[in-house]
Parts: sequence; C-alpha cells; structure tokens
Amino acid sequence: MICKSAEKFALFGGESVIPEGMIKTWPPVDKSDEKLVLDALYAEKQARGDHNIKFEQEFAEYNGNKHAIFTNSGTAALHMALVGCGVGAGDHVLVSAYSWSSSATCILHHNAIPIFVDIDYDTINIDVDKIEAAITPRTKAIVVVHLHGLAVNMDKVMQIAEKHDLKVIEDACQAHGATFNGKKTGTMGHATAFSFNQNKCLSCGEGGMLVTDDDEICKAALSLWSFGETRKPEESRDYHVYALGWMYRNNEITAAFGRAQLAKYPKYFDTLRANGNYLQENLKGIDALVQPTEPEGHVHNWYNYNLRINWDAVQWTGDKGRFRDAVCKVLQSEGLPCVAWQQFILPEMTVFQAKNAYGQGCPWSLPGADEGVTYNPQDYPVAQRHCESYIALVVALRAPNGLDVAEKTAEAVRKVFENINDIDPDEVEAVK
Ligand SMILES: Cc1ncc(COP(=O)(O)O)c(C=O)c1O
Repeated sequence: MICKSAEKFALFGGESVIPEGMIKTWPPVDKSDEKLVLDALYAEKQARGDHNIKFEQEFAEYNGNKHAIFTNSGTAALHMALVGCGVGAGDHVLVSAYSWSSSATCILHHNAIPIFVDIDYDTINIDVDKIEAAITPRTKAIVVVHLHGLAVNMDKVMQIAEKHDLKVIEDACQAHGATFNGKKTGTMGHATAFSFNQNKCLSCGEGGMLVTDDDEICKAALSLWSFGETRKPEESRDYHVYALGWMYRNNEITAAFGRAQLAKYPKYFDTLRANGNYLQENLKGIDALVQPTEPEGHVHNWYNYNLRINWDAVQWTGDKGRFRDAVCKVLQSEGLPCVAWQQFILPEMTVFQAKNAYGQGCPWSLPGADEGVTYNPQDYPVAQRHCESYIALVVALRAPNGLDVAEKTAEAVRKVFENINDIDPDEVEAVK
C-alpha cells in the first residue's frame, strides 16, 4: 500500500505530465547535415581532408581563436592542451574535485599528478578562492572546467596564474558559447579543449577541438596529435617521430557533420538560452528545490540544468543519494528525461585512491611526485554535498524542443518537488 498522496505520481499510476514522444532526441539532423556528410562520404579522402581543415577554420572563426586542431575526442584535446602548456612527468596540476573523469585523468595521461580543489556550491565550479592554498612549487598548471556550461570567473584564475607563473587550460567541453564578462570560453586561458560528443550542445557524434592563440603552445600540442610527427597530413610528411605521439586525428565524415551542426549552433544556443531562462523564471519559489545560478557577468549555455534538493525542506533523514535517486525515478516517470550524472567526486575514484595509473604506482611513484598528495574524500565536502543532491536535465532544453517542452518540464519538476515529502525510496525502488 503506497502513501495516498503519492498516487498522483505517474510512477504509481497517476497521469504523467509530459506525453510520450513530446521531447525530441538530440541532435536534430536535417538536409544540411545530410548534404555535407554525403559529400564527405563520396569524397576521395575520408581520413583528413577539406572538411577537417574547414571545420578547424570555421570553429576558430566562431570562437575567436588563432589556432584550432580537430581531434577525435575532447579528452585528446585536453591531453594536447596540457602538453602544449609544458606539463610533464611529476608536475602537479590543479583541477576541480567534481567534473567528468577525464578533466583529471588527462593529467595522468602525461604522467603528471592531479591535485584536487573543492567546488563552490553555487556555481558548481572550482572554488577560485581555494586555488591559491593548493599551489606548491611543483604546481605547473590549472585545469579549469566550465562545468554544465557556466564559465568560471577567469579574471580571478588568470590573476592567480600570473602571480604564480602557471598555465591555465580551459576544459570547455561542456561550455560552447558560454561567456564570462563578454568573453567566450576558450579565449581566456592559454589553451582550451572542446568536446563534440553526442551529449554536447555542439555535437558530431564524437570529436573534440583544441584551441589556442599561442603559436608555441599549438606547435607543442600538435606533436601529440599525429604519431609524434610535426607536419599535418596535408603538408608533406616526413614520417619521422619527433616526440611521443598518439593518434588523435579525426575523419572527414565526422568533420562534415560537425561543420553542418556548427552552422546551426547560434540557433541552438538561442533555444538553450530561451529554455534555460524559462526554467529559471518558472521554477522560482519551490522550497525543496535549489535552482542553478547564473552570476552577473556570466552567460550560461544551459548544457546541463541542475535540479538540487534543498535538504532543509525534506523530511527524509536516511541516505541522501538514495532519496535523490528515488526523486529522479519519479521525475522520469513523469516523462522527463533526467539522470544523476557523476555520482562520485573525482578523488574518490579508484584510480586516485589506488594511486596507480600506469602500473607500479606510476605516476605517483616518480621521484618526489607524491609529496604532499592526499585524496581524502572528506577534504572536498562541498563537492560531496553537491554530488548527492542533484539531478541533471539535458535533452529537454535542447533544440528542437522549445518553450512548449520547457513549460511541461517546469510543470513536471513542480509536481515532483512540491510533493517531495510524499516520496518514499522503499516504495519507489519496489516499482520495476
Ligand atoms: C567536462 C568534460 N571534460 C571532458 C570531457 C571529455 O570529452 P570527450 O568525451 O569528447 O573525450 C567531457 C565529456 O565527456 C566533459 O563533459
């Protein structure tokens, strides 16, 4: 027998707020994608060719960068950015304690050591006021993640970096088009990685872009991209390996898809803004809900709209993550696609707890590299608190979903969060 008032939830037989099929999948594909992709498919070159080169030029122009290198993932672009910035074995690199795993594992890729910094609860980004305390003589760089599409306060970060002679890598994998004080992500640090995987606001299935305005960083980053060669395939290759390289290039069909999507990105961005703004306005005043923030001077791209539980308004006193998962399931049954995305803070992940990436404790076993390095999850209480409290909305805010979907989304969120105390995790878990 379920609690009487919970019967209104669709999970227990009530009517769901959002009709099946109303929310469209991402990304929208039309004739413009088809035309470019088919052009690439029938072209002589399906590895690197004109579409790759043009995508780089068009993205550099869109974002306002001197250099852009198309890669097969955002993670590859992050790795290249670190090496471009001179990070090497045993160096320490600061990074947010809460992000996608590869914001930190890209540091391990080059045998450097991630040093985590707690987040700020309001912005969910690295707490810029905690950066300076984490800097030591071994610190070489900071990976700044513009998480969920909200840029970090880069004025503060760049001031600290300048003072301590550090390089700043922007992880803008989620932040296409987001701005801080009128500047786009990817134009404020020394080098930046974007991702185009299918979840991203700008997608071509899989892919990434390294951008920088610095010729030397670009040159050093390129050394990783194509087997350690220094020339691009379109230049005459000498097939000589000058440095330790990977195979981080991408192909023509993917580049063509990326170009077609980039041409539509300004329109997608407007849709994201309109839907995000609608939710900001229409979800105000719900006791159990902490809405995301968009501080003054920031333009969010609403890549990921976070709903966080205000525990002060919730009667449940058991495991918070369990209650959050139950709320998520109730929301899903109302027809709203949502997930609890990262459920662990980064330092808690096994690779860091074990301090072993390449075997034999490497890179922490490098001389002096492990000095003062601890990964105690209790040292990142704000990231922990966020992790057990949030539910992420992604696809409902994306084109072609417009304000009609935003309206239904707000209705579903209101229904669930205004009745949150009717949710009993035991009852929710019993529903298969
Ligand atoms: C913040 C962040 N950094 C890095 C990445 C890695 O991008 P990719 O999946 O293209 O390697 C992602 C996405 O997965 C991300 O969300």
